[in-house]
Amino acid sequence: MIKVGLIGLGFMGRGHLDVYLRLEEEGFPVKLVAICDIDTTKFQNKFLPGNLDVGNQKYDFSRYRLYSNYDEMLEKEQLDYVDIALPTYLHADATIKALNKGMHVLCEKPMAMNPRECQAMIEAAEKNNRKLMIGHCLRFWPAYEYLKEVVEEEKFGKVLGGYFFRGGTTPKWSYENWLLRKEKSGGALLDQHIHDIDTINWLFGMPEAVSTVGRNVIEGSGYDIVSTHYFYKDGKVITAEDDWVLNGDFGFDMRFRVNFEKGNIVYEKGVLKVNPNDGESFTPELSTDNGYYREIKYFASAVLNDTPIEVATPVSSMETIIIAMAEMESADNCGKHVTLSKP
Ligand SMILES: NC(=O)c1ccc[n+]([C@@H]2O[C@H](COP(=O)([O-])OP(=O)(O)OC[C@H]3O[C@@H](n4cnc5c(N)ncnc54)[C@H](O)[C@@H]3O)[C@@H](O)[C@H]2O)c1
Repeated sequence: MIKVGLIGLGFMGRGHLDVYLRLEEEGFPVKLVAICDIDTTKFQNKFLPGNLDVGNQKYDFSRYRLYSNYDEMLEKEQLDYVDIALPTYLHADATIKALNKGMHVLCEKPMAMNPRECQAMIEAAEKNNRKLMIGHCLRFWPAYEYLKEVVEEEKFGKVLGGYFFRGGTTPKWSYENWLLRKEKSGGALLDQHIHDIDTINWLFGMPEAVSTVGRNVIEGSGYDIVSTHYFYKDGKVITAEDDWVLNGDFGFDMRFRVNFEKGNIVYEKGVLKVNPNDGESFTPELSTDNGYYREIKYFASAVLNDTPIEVATPVSSMETIIIAMAEMESADNCGKHVTLSKP
């Protein structure tokens, strides 16, 4: 049985808590034993709604040892790993402290605020010989996994182009409104668009260059709307857009459309459709489990069986941050091409 501590019980932390409850119910040998949140009203089941329906509304917190300070939790608890769902500006600090205490770490995306912090996290994992994985849940999301397989195996030949989008209601639920403070979250570009940056990095590798146009709408929040072109040697046309000021009844949406030499794949409104150029369209049979469940189970299994983290390696997650920084630089310079080099 592996013992886990969860740090951060906001919108995403609750999503993770639900996964641990489910894994326990299923008899998977993982047990959440401790939870830390600076805002102890969370332990009285006082939550604000997020943009996706990920968490339950009521929990029995008497089952866990509770903390309001993560240094204290890391000092007192003997844990196999910690699951970090803190605001982004705290990812590097909490991750490095836990690794230095000899615990493995699963940390939410984005990895950190900049590549320097990512590098320090990687070095701490290496120095302590501990596993580190960033919660890039789309790498575990069945529709995106299917796309990855088609790209890798060239089932419809080479990729000609692709479009990725996510966006929706402005996130107004966060602790002290950190999500809408550029210096704490990096804005929609680093917080939300990062999912598509990471997907593009995972599918196609780092681009040669990027060009981004961005727009700030909410004072102090960084880029709230972004649109990026990713340039690759083979000329495929890749674009990603994000917008977190789509209010009213919009809700939340994530979608993609990838065009191959011999067909295309479209994901919209939660449905994946494959359109071969010379055959009938079809909707593949996919796992009904979401990416959060699959990601946490993957990490817990890696700790349990001491197997390597291969799906979302820390270096690849750092590359995603490097791409995001290049996009920010481009947006700050009216869409100028910014070239990239591997770390
Ligand atoms: N993978 C995804 O799809 C996804 C979706 C949403 C958020 N996230 C990520 O999850 C992380 C958390 O985001 P969120 O939306 O849950 O934010 P949130 O503000 O709802 O939750 C953060 C929690 O951390 C707590 N906290 C803040 N400072 C703390 C400290 N010093 N010590 C202990 N607890 C502290 C807050 O009280 C809050 O409960 C971010 O990195 C975000 O990017 C990922």
